[in-house]
Amino acid sequence: MPGRPLHDFHIDAPIAVYDSGLGGLTVVRAIQRLLPGESIAYFGDTARVPYGNKSARTVAQFASQCLRFLTRLNPKIIVVACNTVSATAMPELLAEFSTPIIGVLEPGAAAAIRITRQKIPHGKCAVGLIATEATVASRAYQMAISRLDDGVHVAARACPLLVPLIEEGREADSPLVKLVLDEYLDPLRQIAPAALILGCTHYPILADAVAAAVSPDTILIDSAGETAAVVRKQLESMGLLRSGTVARLSCYVTDQGQRFETIASRFLGRPVGQPVWVDPESIETLTTENR
Ligand code: DGL
Repeated sequence: MPGRPLHDFHIDAPIAVYDSGLGGLTVVRAIQRLLPGESIAYFGDTARVPYGNKSARTVAQFASQCLRFLTRLNPKIIVVACNTVSATAMPELLAEFSTPIIGVLEPGAAAAIRITRQKIPHGKCAVGLIATEATVASRAYQMAISRLDDGVHVAARACPLLVPLIEEGREADSPLVKLVLDEYLDPLRQIAPAALILGCTHYPILADAVAAAVSPDTILIDSAGETAAVVRKQLESMGLLRSGTVARLSCYVTDQGQRFETIASRFLGRPVGQPVWVDPESIETLTTENR
């Protein structure tokens, strides 16, 4: 899909942020910190989370439906704040939608290389990655990292239990979380990479527990801050960066579970207002006029 002309976008339009669940609110938090004047429309596909154990085809189909909904709000940019979608469905999304789309994968990969090369300037070395099964199976991080530096390979571990544990509200100091992380991270602890990518937007919530389970020399890469910086650069280049501090956050979810408030505010770092419920069955039938 060719890009839309710049005059199609309005400076006061929201930044759309999309995730399979509520983990993408860690990216919202970073955007709000860096760009306090921007309004944000957040979409969490909470009825169908997790995506990480689903096929690439299903993830691409869900992502297309959710972005169709978000484009009705005429955003000036879309942030796919989900590693699983960024790793498995970006080519399809870029082909379908004419609004600029930014994923979380490249910014995280670039940061991991930067940290690693500060420590090991030359030769072969490894970056650690923890992510969902779908993200690891896609090898998308490996490809993104090889494109930037072919001396760096990725030592990856899929951690399928972490998203359900987080969405269940388990904290970093939970003994169950510690047990699961010890098992998942054992091989990475042995390698002691300079950088470990938290390759899922849910994981920053457990950063302290992850840090305790890997080597003390390993620096954790949370792609949220890196992604926010890319968003700012992109908006700047489009002349659509909004200054000021009066910004809104509107949340849309496909299921509002009992613990929405508690879990969402944990990711965002402050209370979240009432979300708007979107029926996942009807996303498909929404008008596509603004695509
Ligand atoms: N936040 C998503 C990601 O970054 C969660 C994965 C899932 O839905 O399984 O991959």
